[in-house]
Amino acid sequence: MRLAPSILSADFARLADQMARVEEAGAQQFHLDVMDGHYVENLTFGPMVVEAVRRSTELPLDVHLMIENADKWVEAFSTAGADMIAVHPETLYHLHRTIMDIKNRGKQAGIALNPSTPLVTLEEILPDLDYIIVMSVNPGFGGQAFIRSSFDRVRKLRSLIEERGLSTQIEIDGGIDADNIRQVVEAGVDVVVVGSAIFSSPDPALKLREMLAIGKG
Ligand code: DX5
Ligand code: ZN
Repeated sequence: MRLAPSILSADFARLADQMARVEEAGAQQFHLDVMDGHYVENLTFGPMVVEAVRRSTELPLDVHLMIENADKWVEAFSTAGADMIAVHPETLYHLHRTIMDIKNRGKQAGIALNPSTPLVTLEEILPDLDYIIVMSVNPGFGGQAFIRSSFDRVRKLRSLIEERGLSTQIEIDGGIDADNIRQVVEAGVDVVVVGSAIFSSPDPALKLREMLAIGKG
């Protein structure tokens, strides 16, 4: 499993420093939550910040778009330095076209599934995806409680991927802490996004090391 700190809960006045610390402690990619105040009730940052983050690390940048008209922003986030771009299917009329656009730019393409989005949404698009984000909270804010039905969704998704002989990665996003990280890994997750548990802790690097050790079992 890999650990992807979400910078949403980091201190933006000391972002490069906080990123360097968790990177040194073993983070393997960074998760960047882009929110527009429309699709979700929170507003974060756009390509400018992604570009600044790009200059602060060599690790892959996983850009999670929680925005309307995500198709119109793929180019800007690609140019800003995203390595992976995930969209929410509800935000797009032409999901397949957007996924192809992301891939044609040489980026990994993903979709993020809200807790209420049926897994059957993946039926046709699954072979085209590099990764799937299983949302284990409703998107919009860091620090929310983990929705327990997510374990089952991850297990089902893992068997779906295996049945079809695919290598699609599963990422889980929301409400992960030291007390549930092992269980999500056992359910079949490849990448664990962690925001507040790491950055709201007094020592983010220590917390990351602890979670990585528990996650790896
Ligand atoms: C929620 C975001 C998450 C968030 C996770 O909409 O997609 O990436 O940063 O934060 P925690 O780990 O605090 O739930
Ligand atoms: Zn996210």
